[in-house]
Amino acid sequence: MSDKALNENKERYELTRRDFIKNVSIGAAGAVAIATLVKNEIAQAQEAVKKTAEETKPKTGPLTYDDVLKVAREKLYPKCRVCPECDGVACAGEVPGMGGIGSGQSFKNNFIALQKIQLVMRTFHNMKKPDTTITLWGNKLSLPVLSAATGGTTYNMGLKGKMTDEEYIDAILGGCIMAGTIGMAADGIGDPVDVFKIRLEAVKKYNGRAIVTIKPRTQEEIIKRIRMIEEAGAIAFAVDIDSAGRAARALPGQTVEPKTPKQLREIVNATKLPFIIKGIMTVEEAKIAVDVGAKGIVVSNHGGRVLDYTPGVIEVLPKIAKAVKGKIFIFADGCVKYGTDVLKYLALGADAVLSGRHLLRAAVGGGKEGVALFINRMKNELVDSMVLTGTSDVKKVSRSIIA
Ligand SMILES: Cc1cc2nc3c(=O)[nH]c(=O)nc-3n(C[C@H](O)[C@H](O)[C@H](O)COP(=O)(O)O)c2cc1C
Repeated sequence: MSDKALNENKERYELTRRDFIKNVSIGAAGAVAIATLVKNEIAQAQEAVKKTAEETKPKTGPLTYDDVLKVAREKLYPKCRVCPECDGVACAGEVPGMGGIGSGQSFKNNFIALQKIQLVMRTFHNMKKPDTTITLWGNKLSLPVLSAATGGTTYNMGLKGKMTDEEYIDAILGGCIMAGTIGMAADGIGDPVDVFKIRLEAVKKYNGRAIVTIKPRTQEEIIKRIRMIEEAGAIAFAVDIDSAGRAARALPGQTVEPKTPKQLREIVNATKLPFIIKGIMTVEEAKIAVDVGAKGIVVSNHGGRVLDYTPGVIEVLPKIAKAVKGKIFIFADGCVKYGTDVLKYLALGADAVLSGRHLLRAAVGGGKEGVALFINRMKNELVDSMVLTGTSDVKKVSRSIIA
């Protein structure tokens, strides 16, 4: 072979070798890239499987407030959206349901009025461990917060097949006791007497550490239920007088009615149990409650569920407290969620507060443990806010902590 031919051959050989190496490199890089992609996808898939397994495996760690709200949202939707702030906007008009009646303005007013109140911070003192306890008719409570009465697991909460009346009341009363306080049992206007009996069974189970409410039924029906409450050994009973609105269109056997002072006195005289009148929004009626011999009032507009366009509860509370404080035990309710809410109500005249919707969500989302968790969380916030406002005792909250 000539030199020229030899060179041409070599060049061709070099070219094919270069192409070969190049192609092999591309191929190898491609293979590596494919392998990497596959590896990434496998890793991602493995991660997703791990995450799903973690999400679905029963939680072993401590129950958190987020867990409780997540379950509550799943179970209560669409009756309750479990909004980040429970302000009566999304559920306006949803009665039965969880909202406020009509425009929902009374519920919204409870929320708005409470938000407007501001606290004064005072930290030049040596008080580190405030006292949050109160005594209610001989019963020591770890904090001045009780569960409000909330009924209607089917027609208000949509829990049919998810939580029974029995489970619900057990969660409310049991959870309150776990947290060192007590709860109220409801008397739903559409509930047959059998549902009332279920609630009384729970009251008995917890050795009477509960307050039972009765709708403003006929006198005869109220007294019949008072006897059942006495038998269950409850601490006290309440009549939610503000449920009288349906007097004109009562269901058969479910008559409700407004009450005269004479009828209220009859109820007081029918039992030795302390009688609480729930649903007071004026100074005049608070004074009448004292006169007829009631032992407690709940300053309340029923969470805005009975009459549209009432003021917010915390707006009417100071005047009422000025007139009757010390003569009767003053409860108040409306949008109590945070420890600071409790402190605001106490500073403006309440002796204790009730929490309704927030404890309802806690009960549905976490049972007794959920309720106890929520109350203890509120208690921690209450303690912190007491230190930061220089308040040593929930029984002596000064008006001067309000800005
Ligand atoms: C779903 C639901 C059911 C209620 N059922 C009753 C009841 O049966 N008896 C009663 O006295 N109050 C009842 N209430 C009113 C509450 O006791 C409480 O006064 C009101 O909800 C205000 O508290 P909140 O703003 O913390 O919810 C109910 C409230 C809700 C939301």
